[in-house]
Amino acid sequence: MAGKQLNIGLLGCETVGRGLMELMDKNRTLIRDRSGVDLHISQVLVRDLKKERPGVDNALLTTRPEKVIENGCDMVVELVGGLEPARSFIHRALAGRKHVVTANKALLAADGFSLRRKAALQNVRFGFEASVCGGIPIVRALRSGLVGNEIHSLSGILNGTCNYILTRMADDGVDFTDALREAQVRGFAEADPTLDVDGHDAAQKLKILSELAFNGRLETKDIPVEGIRAITAEDVGFAREIGSVIRQVATAEVLDGALSLRVETVLLPRDHQLAAVRDENNAVLVRGDAVGEMLFSGKGAGSLPSASAVLSDIVEIAKHDGGFSPPAERTIQTIKPDLRSKYYVRVQVEQPSAIGPITTILERNGIAVRPAIPASRGRSPRTQGRSRSIYCLVSGDLRPDQIIPGEFLLKMPSCFWASCGMSDTLMRRPMNVVHGFSATG
Ligand SMILES: NC(=O)c1ccc[n+]([C@@H]2O[C@H](COP(=O)([O-])OP(=O)(O)OC[C@H]3O[C@@H](n4cnc5c(N)ncnc54)[C@H](OP(=O)(O)O)[C@@H]3O)[C@@H](O)[C@H]2O)c1
Repeated sequence: MAGKQLNIGLLGCETVGRGLMELMDKNRTLIRDRSGVDLHISQVLVRDLKKERPGVDNALLTTRPEKVIENGCDMVVELVGGLEPARSFIHRALAGRKHVVTANKALLAADGFSLRRKAALQNVRFGFEASVCGGIPIVRALRSGLVGNEIHSLSGILNGTCNYILTRMADDGVDFTDALREAQVRGFAEADPTLDVDGHDAAQKLKILSELAFNGRLETKDIPVEGIRAITAEDVGFAREIGSVIRQVATAEVLDGALSLRVETVLLPRDHQLAAVRDENNAVLVRGDAVGEMLFSGKGAGSLPSASAVLSDIVEIAKHDGGFSPPAERTIQTIKPDLRSKYYVRVQVEQPSAIGPITTILERNGIAVRPAIPASRGRSPRTQGRSRSIYCLVSGDLRPDQIIPGEFLLKMPSCFWASCGMSDTLMRRPMNVVHGFSATG
C-alpha cells in the first residue's frame, strides 16, 4: 500500500547524509508500514560533484542550493554542518515555509532559540534530534515523552571523545596524549580536538538540552567548562584505588529557582550509573518531578546512529501537520554553580618525607586531608634525572578558591593540584571534579 509521499531536499551527503540515504533505502518498507509515509529524496546539495559516493544516485546531486531548497520539496534536511552557509540555507527554507531537520549542534547552540521561534512563526516544524547525543532520542524525550514533568536536573556524558579517552586511559594505563592519538586514529576525535577535550562541545550540548528542559533562552557563557587535558595516568590509577572512575559530566540543575550549569571532569564511584558509560558512548540522566530519575544512553555519534535520529525527526514531522508552538520568550535565570566539594589532590615530591610537611601546611590553612595514598603503580616519573614520588590526598569539603593558596604552594618543591568536587544534590554520592594547575618551586 502506498503511503503519503514526502519530498525531501537534502543539504550535505557525506557522513550523516550518506548514512541517512542508506537507512532510508534499507528500511523504506518498514518506515512506510509503521508511519504511512513514503520518503523520497528530490535533490541533494554537495560541494564536489566528482567525489565518489557509493550507493548515491549521481543524478540527484547539485552544487546549487536553490535547486534543493526551492524546488517544491516538503522538507529540507540540513547535514552540511558549521554556521555558514548552513544558517542561511535554513533561513531560506523556513522563509519558504519548508519543514527543516538538522543535526547541526554548532548552529543550534548559537541560534537554536531563534531558529525554533522562526519555524513556529512560519507554522512549520523544526527537528534537531541528531544535534545532541547522536542516536539517543533525548530531544524527543524532553519535548514530548517528559512534557508533563517539571525537570529538576539533567546531567550526562555528552562528549564521546572525552569518554573514549578516559576509558582508554583507565583500561590500558596510557596517558592522555596516547589515548587522544588512538581516538583520532579510530575516528572518535577530530584532528583539532580542542572543542571536545576542553569541554566546549559538552557545554554547547548542555545548552541545547537545557533550553528545552528548562524552557527558555540561555547563554553558553553562563556555563563554566573544564577540560580533561590535565588528567594523568596517575590520576586514573588513584581513581581506581579509591573505587572511582574519571568522567567528564555536564550538569544543569535547579537550585533555589535558578539554573546552575557546569561541565566538569569528575570522580564518580564505580557503581554510579554514569560510571558504567564507556568508550564513545553518551548518556543523559534526567530527573523529573513525576517520573523521578531516567537514564538515556547509547551511541552519541557516527553515521548510522545520527542518521537514525535524523530519520526519526523526518518521520515524526511527516506524520503530523502544523508547527510546534514557539519556544517561551524568556531568559532562564542562572546562578554560579556551587563548586564546594571534596578535592582530590595529586602531589609530586622529590622525597617521600616531604609529604608530611605538605599535609601540615594544608591543615594549617584549614584544609583537612585524609592520609596520603602513595602511587602504587611503580610509575613515578623521573625529571632531570631525579625520581619523584606521587601521592594522592583527599580533602574535606572546600571551595575551589581554598585550594589555591599560593602562599604555601610556593613552599612545595613541585606539585600538581587536582580538585574533586562533590555535588550530592544531583549525583548522590561523590561527584568529584578533577582540575588543577602545576607549580614548581
Ligand atoms: N558525524 C557525526 O557523527 C555527527 C553526529 C551528530 C551530528 N553531526 C552533525 O551533522 C552535520 C553533518 O556532519 P557530517 O559529519 O555528516 O559532515 P561531513 O561528513 O563533513 O559532510 C558534510 C556534507 O556537506 C557538504 N557541504 C559542506 N559544505 C558545503 C557547502 N558550502 N556547500 C554545499 N555542500 C557543502 C559536503 O559536500 P562534499 O561531500 O561535496 O564535500 C558533505 O557532503 C554537522 O552539523 C555535524 O555536527 C555529525
